[in-house]
Amino acid sequence: MQLLTLLALTATTTTAFSRPPQGLRPPTRIHAGGGDARQVVILFGPPGSGKGTHAPKLVDKLGAPQLSTGDMLRAAVAAGSEVGQKAKAVMEAGGLVGDDIVVGIIRDRIEESDCSKGFILDGFPRTVDQAKMLDECLAEKGECVNAVVALEVPDAVLTERICGRWVHKASGRSYHAKFAPPKSLGGAAPSTETMLDDETNEPLMQRADDTEEALKTRLAGYHAQTVPILEHYSTVVSRVDANQGLDEVWAAIDKAT
Ligand code: AP5
Repeated sequence: MQLLTLLALTATTTTAFSRPPQGLRPPTRIHAGGGDARQVVILFGPPGSGKGTHAPKLVDKLGAPQLSTGDMLRAAVAAGSEVGQKAKAVMEAGGLVGDDIVVGIIRDRIEESDCSKGFILDGFPRTVDQAKMLDECLAEKGECVNAVVALEVPDAVLTERICGRWVHKASGRSYHAKFAPPKSLGGAAPSTETMLDDETNEPLMQRADDTEEALKTRLAGYHAQTVPILEHYSTVVSRVDANQGLDEVWAAIDKAT
């Protein structure tokens, strides 16, 4: 009887101590199929820093899906759902959608089967409260954030990037009229006729919040509410200079993951 009690206690103690402390697990290299705990990577950075540009390469490399709260909210707006109706005006003005809404979206999404080995968060968390809610949600399963890849670009560079961006709505592929033009552009002026997706040849579009005016609000929110997250996850942050050519930025992200 005493031996059984001792074994039970030992098992409990081992489980408790084998669970990594919240947010403190060191960054690990992620390989599809390795281990049973899910790997959680945050792709972090201001609007226009290249999160959406580089996420597809990270998805290929890690074999984990990209979960973009911006894409999910835009889909909700397009579908006219209750969440979309609440989010539309806030997003167009460049403000932040309520924490409860985005956390609810992510909480459900990470339960889906394609997240069974891990996932890449893009645009989430965006406030320290969201980060804490994410940590709680992961801790319920003995998981935590493994790595934060922080793309750093001076604000002055971001206006040209954002105002020249064109996206393929269905896939989320991101182009730029000057820095990353689609094959269809040639030397022509950018328009819905000349800006076509490389893979599907479908027209690209510009986002309603990609204006100089909305960008000012987005950047103010980024510095005031989002940057403090780096301190929250300080032990797992890798900083990447994202103010260089696309290939150089990817090489740095590749090295960090
Ligand atoms: P979201 O969709 O997440 O937008 P964002 O964070 O503002 O980021 P972007 O998508 O604008 O930038 P990116 O880093 O992906 O840039 P990209 O790679 O395309 O959020 C939109 C809105 O949704 C928010 O404002 C908010 O209202 C709401 N929302 C979302 N999540 C929320 C949350 N968690 N809580 C509350 N509200 C939330 O690059 C930009 C351009 O630059 C492209 O054209 C690209 O080709 C070009 N480019 C990229 N890298 C380079 C380079 N190295 N050199 C030259 N050009 C480059």
